[in-house]
Amino acid sequence: MESKNSRLTNAKPWLAPDAKAGSYALGLLGLEERKLLYHLARDVFSGAGAAVDLGAFCGASTCCLAAGISDNQRAPQRRVHSFDSFVASETYLVDFIRDKFGEQIGPGQSFESIFRRVIAEYADRVEVHAGDLLEQTWPIDKPIELLFVDIAKTLALSGKVLTEFFPRLIPGRSLVVHQDFYHPTAFYLPIVMDFLAEHFTIVETGRDSTVVFRLDSVIPRAKLERASRYDFTFVQQKAALRRMMRRVGMPGRDYLRLGECAAIGTAFGEHQFRAALASAIRQSTIPPCQVWSDGLKWCGAFNATHIRNRLWGSALKMPPPGVTDHAYMMVSSAWSAVSSHLMPAR
Ligand SMILES: C[S@@+](CC[C@H](N)C(=O)[O-])C[C@H]1O[C@@H](n2cnc3c(N)ncnc32)[C@H](O)[C@@H]1O
Repeated sequence: MESKNSRLTNAKPWLAPDAKAGSYALGLLGLEERKLLYHLARDVFSGAGAAVDLGAFCGASTCCLAAGISDNQRAPQRRVHSFDSFVASETYLVDFIRDKFGEQIGPGQSFESIFRRVIAEYADRVEVHAGDLLEQTWPIDKPIELLFVDIAKTLALSGKVLTEFFPRLIPGRSLVVHQDFYHPTAFYLPIVMDFLAEHFTIVETGRDSTVVFRLDSVIPRAKLERASRYDFTFVQQKAALRRMMRRVGMPGRDYLRLGECAAIGTAFGEHQFRAALASAIRQSTIPPCQVWSDGLKWCGAFNATHIRNRLWGSALKMPPPGVTDHAYMMVSSAWSAVSSHLMPAR
């Protein structure tokens, strides 16, 4: 008789003891994320639509997807559509390339040659779309079946993904694979996916920082546009995070506590951020792990102006919290202060 475990790993082959990563090309992906991408491309992808890598960097995610497609008998002709500016726009990209590849690519310079070299083995399986995603459109008249999102690092980019790529998903089949879903810097991703929750089922609640959703029904255009404008009050964002915490369960729930702190700090500043962080750490029950410690490290350097500038392009463009938001925050801070006296620190 088939055991419960084998049924689970049949449905989620990336959890099997012999699950493969597909590729160990240098990149910003964890081992569990690599296994997830490889097995989604090999065992779940049918070829009914395209496979898309948004945020290919030096090729790790592209190689995992391309390796999976190469080993997938049902989709022999398929390719991965890899999108990236291939321009080292941020310090962490410059540092990664210097430390891991030993190459000095200055800020603003192209690293496309590294990407091409890394994916050479799969070159005939990859279609490269180089350029600023904000200026790109989905170029082919074909739906998208597997959408890996590792590029939604700002609200504008998240909005672009929602309006340009989500409308191409196939109801009942397509998967959205959200990297950074649990990283506090991307707290808006769970908020947006909560807003769209009635159209999605969660297929995988967490491999490293990544969560997978299957599209169940067509999302009305107006709803995607509202999500892309990130037209949510602070109170709505907080409620959305709480709902998403319940949906994903542990350990995602605890990871999202740090995202909640980031939402609070972004709206109300460092003082409120630190109070919320102390409370989140007190309430968390998670044993030490990489996702949690990466999140805590990011929280240690939290700067409200920096994240406002990053998310909105300029802190001045961030809509200020309204009267209800301030009232909510006052009550919630008072409650938190009371519970910190009642609940001993861990
Ligand atoms: C975290 S990295 C992706 C890591 C990658 N998936 C891997 O496997 O290592 C994010 C990528 O998004 C790209 N990116 C950021 N903003 C972009 C934009 N506006 N247009 C195109 N690419 C962008 C960066 O160049 C970077 O390569």
